[in-house]
Amino acid sequence: MNGQPERPARIAAAFRSRFGAEPLVWCRAPGRVDLMGSHTDYNLGCVLTLPIDRDTWIAARPRPDRIVQAHSLNLDADTRFDLDALARAPGRAWCNYLRGVASVLRADGQSLCGFDAVLHSTVPLGGGLSSSAALECATATVFETLGGWSLDPVRKARLCQQAENEFVGVNCGILDQYTACAGRAGCALLLDCRDLSAQPVQLARGLQVVIGDTRSKRELAGSEYGQRRAHCEAGARQFGVKALREVSLDRFRQHESALPADVAKRCRFILEEDERVLRMAEALTRGDTEAIGRLCTASFDGARRLYEITTPAMHAMRDAMLQAPGVLGARQAGAGFGGCLVAFVDPGAVDAFTAAVRRGYQDRTGTVPELYPVHAVAGAGRVDGAMLGSGWSSRPSVEAGPGGGDGLPCQTAT
Ligand code: GLA
Repeated sequence: MNGQPERPARIAAAFRSRFGAEPLVWCRAPGRVDLMGSHTDYNLGCVLTLPIDRDTWIAARPRPDRIVQAHSLNLDADTRFDLDALARAPGRAWCNYLRGVASVLRADGQSLCGFDAVLHSTVPLGGGLSSSAALECATATVFETLGGWSLDPVRKARLCQQAENEFVGVNCGILDQYTACAGRAGCALLLDCRDLSAQPVQLARGLQVVIGDTRSKRELAGSEYGQRRAHCEAGARQFGVKALREVSLDRFRQHESALPADVAKRCRFILEEDERVLRMAEALTRGDTEAIGRLCTASFDGARRLYEITTPAMHAMRDAMLQAPGVLGARQAGAGFGGCLVAFVDPGAVDAFTAAVRRGYQDRTGTVPELYPVHAVAGAGRVDGAMLGSGWSSRPSVEAGPGGGDGLPCQTAT
């Protein structure tokens, strides 16, 4: 159910059966895949990121009170909470993403209103393609739409990141939420995490991005992610700067031997990866396939030897990708520790590539992988009428932007 016509019908039917009415607003936010720049975001470096055509949809209807009731079709689970009593649920419960977003928006002074909602995501949950950020940013868009106000996408991204950092308790950088909020259809973004600006990067013809999901568990992702951050912060302290972005590779090389071995490895990776981001932006724009392959190899080698975020499943996926027809390069995606890889593939060979990777990965691991050829889509917003199909596209909530005068802003918002 990825963009297929039955998606809105299935969501609407679930909404009707739960809440006895039609949804009035449809909001969405995409997942992402990073094309270059692993772990550079929290070092205030650059990342090349792609908002992908796998997204989270929320169909909602305002309520006259301060209650949010939501049903997740993916998890077949429900949540209900009061906007005036936003407690954190124990553990990593999915409802914390909704509550967290409500909590930061409220603290930011936005007026919130209660709603009923059905959620559906085509971003694989917990697979390293930012299903969490898609959920947060889609939730913020529902509050925005029903409240009749509108946030700048970068501000919205920062608030959603804050929800994840402070409410959910995951110390992520800005990459995921920025991509989910500020993505543009048809291009990658060269995001500068120091000043939060982004340049569109148009991929040359002849390049298809294909994601390979190892379907391996990412259990260590939390603790190891925190450790990598700590090593980078220790490195920055040694150089007397706020973040590694302020250290040049030359300066690093002069002082590398004085650093603890682990810290030196992490810092080297980040500084080299940061340089690769800029080179990759050029290579993708020019369609320089030789450079794309070389940069992917260097990135994966660094992730393996220096940042130590690769796993046997990731090695198997990369080997299968590099032996498949039409491949131009393949590297890790997201935080690593399992999850997905991203490959650049000759568009004419995508079917042969996916078939060969499926076989190759299964032979190596016994697991059938998921393979997704992806395209760049716009960041969080209302679901486009064309995506909803003829049964829904005439609804006024689809036509107007947030606060667009379609009579939705909730009367009881505070
Ligand atoms: C996760 C985090 C991001 C980023 C990536 C690694 O996806 O949420 O902020 O650090 O890992 O690049």
